Amino acid sequence: MPYTLNDLVVDIKEILVNDQIQNGSDKICYFVSKALMDQNFIAENLPDRLNGELPRQILYEDNDTGFCVCGHVYDTEAIGTPHDHGPSWAIYGQASGETEMTDWEITNDISSDDIIYVKPKKTYTMKAGDVHFYDIGHVHSPVRKDPVRLLRVEGENLDNIKRSNIKVS
Ligand SMILES: [Fe+2]
Repeated sequence: MPYTLNDLVVDIKEILVNDQIQNGSDKICYFVSKALMDQNFIAENLPDRLNGELPRQILYEDNDTGFCVCGHVYDTEAIGTPHDHGPSWAIYGQASGETEMTDWEITNDISSDDIIYVKPKKTYTMKAGDVHFYDIGHVHSPVRKDPVRLLRVEGENLDNIKRSNIKVS
């Protein structure tokens, strides 16, 4: 049986309603990896971007709980600076290619000028099928040197959130 976007959405919503994210993140990661193992799911939901299309597409946004399922398809290098996701958590799933991800440790609480200082904590490679949960307040930076396809679940649409001002200490 193929695993569809609708299946994934139903599974995520059930977990969020019954367990909330703190108790349910591992279960959501399981279903994201299940989607990543289904080549039909990837072909259907993470296709090549046509000229002019954005790498990021919202595949589903839930009106009740606010969570989003997003597809990111980069056909060239994509280098991210250290960032958080404001008030949201996020689950990153690597569908194809590799991401070199660095997690950053916060070295101070928010200073009077609203800057959060960070230092690198660990760097690891996310390969096809790998899934990671990033809780609220977590700071990370992804580096993708070659084309990648990513499946992401966000606690709320990250297009609409205010991110913290983060500097490397
Ligand atoms: Fe991120």
